[in-house]
Amino acid sequence: MNFAARITGTGSAFPKNRVTNSTIVKKLAKLGVETSEKWIRERTGIQERRISDLENPNERNSSLAFSAAQKALDMAGKSPEDIDQIIYATCSPDTPLPSSACWLQHKMGAYKAWGMDINAACSGFIYGLATAERFIRSGQVVTSLVVGAEVLNPILNWEDRNSCILFGDGAGAAIVEQTPEDSARQILSSHLLSDGSLWELLYVPAGGSNMEVTPERYAKKLHKLRMKGKELFKVAVKTLADSALQTLKKNHMTTDDLDWFVPHQANHRIIEAVANRLDFPMEKVLVNVDRFGNTSAATIPTALDEGNRDGRIKQGQTVLLTAFGAGLTYGSILMRW
Ligand code: ACO
Repeated sequence: MNFAARITGTGSAFPKNRVTNSTIVKKLAKLGVETSEKWIRERTGIQERRISDLENPNERNSSLAFSAAQKALDMAGKSPEDIDQIIYATCSPDTPLPSSACWLQHKMGAYKAWGMDINAACSGFIYGLATAERFIRSGQVVTSLVVGAEVLNPILNWEDRNSCILFGDGAGAAIVEQTPEDSARQILSSHLLSDGSLWELLYVPAGGSNMEVTPERYAKKLHKLRMKGKELFKVAVKTLADSALQTLKKNHMTTDDLDWFVPHQANHRIIEAVANRLDFPMEKVLVNVDRFGNTSAATIPTALDEGNRDGRIKQGQTVLLTAFGAGLTYGSILMRW
């Protein structure tokens, strides 16, 4: 028998601390960095984001993932013992090793599963879901837990107004289950791409074998994220639109066949520009960047969870997920919900 895969449960979790633009303006002012609520709102569409309290064990990366995964499991009517595989997308893991997947497995008591992390930055959830789909189609896995979770706060440079205003912390999760190959509701196709030549658009210089963190490098904040925002903006619009169109084309569809588009949430202006290129109405685009900022691998699963829970996404509808992220990584997943 041949198999397909489908999402049967979704969940999200965010830290308690809501950080408004007004709070950011005050925080940056103390560091001698000028910005304004108006600039952040107009140039990014972000109103607020959540930021983890690192002293609170419940707000670390795998703790947020744990809450999101519990909600996804409840929706799917499953328990931790049912999970065969944990695929954990993050670029801000709990620890360099072991993987966040192992931390999560331990927190959940999901000891039947094996788990691994995927670092594809903001495309992580798409990469993770595509990987789970392949394992399920092969028959090796029946139930997979796919997580996109980030606590980016420790790698943000709060003196870099270009980047620190954009990001937030949070986690999204999906339970992906085996279904017969002819099921109406399933992941229809997934398409992943990357272009390593664009690594310099978004990276963290120190902390790996390229560059150890020394006191001097720490003082220069080389362990913090660097971003070329303007260049990234253009690449983002092009890759998101191209990836979405190619995926639709491969499935002999057009944007007219789509009920919902769930793009990576980096900046509201990027989302609008992509919708414009696709000639797709913003009313059918799921957006949460205004309330949570860019939560990297968590943006797509949290936006999807929101649309699923509030009933906007209905059974049998066609949903396209499209992401881009540091690397550069990008890709799309098309599914019938
Ligand atoms: N407050 C006030 N002014 C600012 C701020 C700020 N927070 N940040 C930048 N500016 C200034 C700039 O210094 C510049 O001033 P200048 O003209 O005097 O030099 C001016 O505003 C315009 O700067 P631009 O870079 O042209 O601003 P832009 O409209 O492009 O917005 C932004 C910048 C928000 C970074 C945008 O380019 C963007 O969103 N880029 C994409 C970022 C992104 O997607 N990152 C995530 C990648 S995904 C992942 O894997 C994590």
